[in-house]
Amino acid sequence: MCGIVGYVGYRRILPVLLDGLKRLEYRGYDSAGVTWPEEGGLMRVRAKGKLSVLEDTLEDYRSTKSKVGLGHTRWATHGEPTEENAHPHTDCTGELVVVHNGIIENYYSLREQLKKEGHRFMSETDTEVLAHLIEKYLDDDLEAAVRQALKDVTGAYALGVLWARRPDMLIAARKQSPLVLGISENETFMASDIPAILPYTREVIFLDDGEMAILTEQGISICSLENGQEIEKAPQQISWDAAMAEKSGYKHFMLKEIYEQPQAILNTFRGSIIPDTGEIELPEIGIETQTIQRLKRIVLLACGTSWHAGLIGKYWIEKWAGIPVEVDLASEFRYRDLLMDEDVLTIPISQSGETADTLAGLRIAKNLGSPIVSICNVLGSTITRESDGTVYTHAGPEIGVASTKAFTSQLTALYILALFLAQKRKSVSMQDAATYLKALMKVPGIIEEHLSKWHEHSRKLADEFYTKADFLYLGRHLQFPVALEGALKLKEISYIHAEGYAAGEMKHGPIALIDKDMPVVALVPGDHVYEKMISNVEEVKSRRGIVVALGRQEDEGLKRISNVMIGVPEADPMINPFLYTVPLQLIAYEIALARGCDVDQPRNLAKSVTVE
Ligand code: M6R
Repeated sequence: MCGIVGYVGYRRILPVLLDGLKRLEYRGYDSAGVTWPEEGGLMRVRAKGKLSVLEDTLEDYRSTKSKVGLGHTRWATHGEPTEENAHPHTDCTGELVVVHNGIIENYYSLREQLKKEGHRFMSETDTEVLAHLIEKYLDDDLEAAVRQALKDVTGAYALGVLWARRPDMLIAARKQSPLVLGISENETFMASDIPAILPYTREVIFLDDGEMAILTEQGISICSLENGQEIEKAPQQISWDAAMAEKSGYKHFMLKEIYEQPQAILNTFRGSIIPDTGEIELPEIGIETQTIQRLKRIVLLACGTSWHAGLIGKYWIEKWAGIPVEVDLASEFRYRDLLMDEDVLTIPISQSGETADTLAGLRIAKNLGSPIVSICNVLGSTITRESDGTVYTHAGPEIGVASTKAFTSQLTALYILALFLAQKRKSVSMQDAATYLKALMKVPGIIEEHLSKWHEHSRKLADEFYTKADFLYLGRHLQFPVALEGALKLKEISYIHAEGYAAGEMKHGPIALIDKDMPVVALVPGDHVYEKMISNVEEVKSRRGIVVALGRQEDEGLKRISNVMIGVPEADPMINPFLYTVPLQLIAYEIALARGCDVDQPRNLAKSVTVE
């Protein structure tokens, strides 16, 4: 939700903090701030609005020689996005500052208590109580004071602390909000996400819940928040590089990430499949073949776009592995009366690996004895660490708030996982598996070949329809979740009201919406429900709705009954979700662009939803 970056070392502080914040701005962008030691005290500069406003404000401070500091970019939870509510927040003396990501649930009672004790509050945030609490316990041992203060706190936090009297060090602490530490020669880093530190180091340590870290130029020491005992943690090497988290000439991250999909899909299946024989290897699956063989049910658990991936995965798993699948919204799952045990496999799906609801669902399922195999894009993220095993998507960092390449990479992971489970249960022959894998292998090439044509069509379509107020997306079978995803993409970045529906449901309500102003995006591949979809398109037509059809290039019949048609090559029906998703992403992108929206950082949203 918010982005934290911290540095101790030999570089001038402002460029490091601003560059780090830029790479984290996707996490929150309503205000930002930085702090660093200066002449025995602390300098603190904050600004409402995007990071660029803070950058302008910092012009006068560029000459600072400080080599230590903290930065924060905010996504408001408590208190409006104003300069006063922007982080860092200070204690009463102004000598101690904190930056925070998460929510302090008992902040109100703490605040009232601290006020009674004489503390003066300057913001409406929950975070400010942390600064005053630490102040309350601070004598001359900052580490002890942070540990003591956090004992009073309930809620979630990734925390960075700087004290003017120890200008050579930073303290980091974590509970339920991500924090990664970076190490290089004579410098150390903290950040909410890896891209912030990629230009400097690929050696990282993921802080776990209940841990605190002390960062100095010489290195990082980690201890338990509970008892202060030292914890040994070896750094891990990250394979991403800094260029992967840059726009590389594209106008937006979202567009770059749409175009990166052939590579992301390829990277996700490459190394795991042998298409000639049909073999699949998932060395990090983390569960035994016997466990797979005795499974009675699978629960796919996710939020947003990842949930849509799960809805598609259900069709593949049920078809190939013959195991009943439930696909749950994690925010609903966590409050249901669950019927689960060790024969129910839970598969949390998450790009970030940090989504609060998905993580909570994972923990509940685990407590009920369910084995957990996650699908995730971020090595070392909390969800992967709490799972028995993981199937990694190798999409590289996804920066655009609207998920694109992560989605098609999740589909890839689900596709191979479904076949893997089927093989272990002997419900699919190696020959059939080989056929399906060969179909999957064609996906990157087909997308690559059609990207620019789809993009061109999307531009034209955006010109024609960007002023419309509502869109309906219809699909059946595998294309139903694709319709949901198409509608989500459009609404989140263009702010147009859009709904996805199973086409067969149209008669049960949404048909009432259709009129001459309503574009209806119909997904009509040549699969076993083709005739049914054609009937639905006719129904839209006869109510004067505008039909935007996606279907086989050579489908003249469909072309005739559509107002606009985007051609998609005919392929094995199992891979259609990949092929029909990409044009929908481009349509959303171009419409948002035509409406002048901020594509990469849409209003009210954040990339990683680490609070409930
Ligand atoms: O990191 P996750 O995959 O767990 O995130 C889940 C959703 O927050 C995410 O997919 C969200 O819906 C995106 N904005 C969709 O584009």
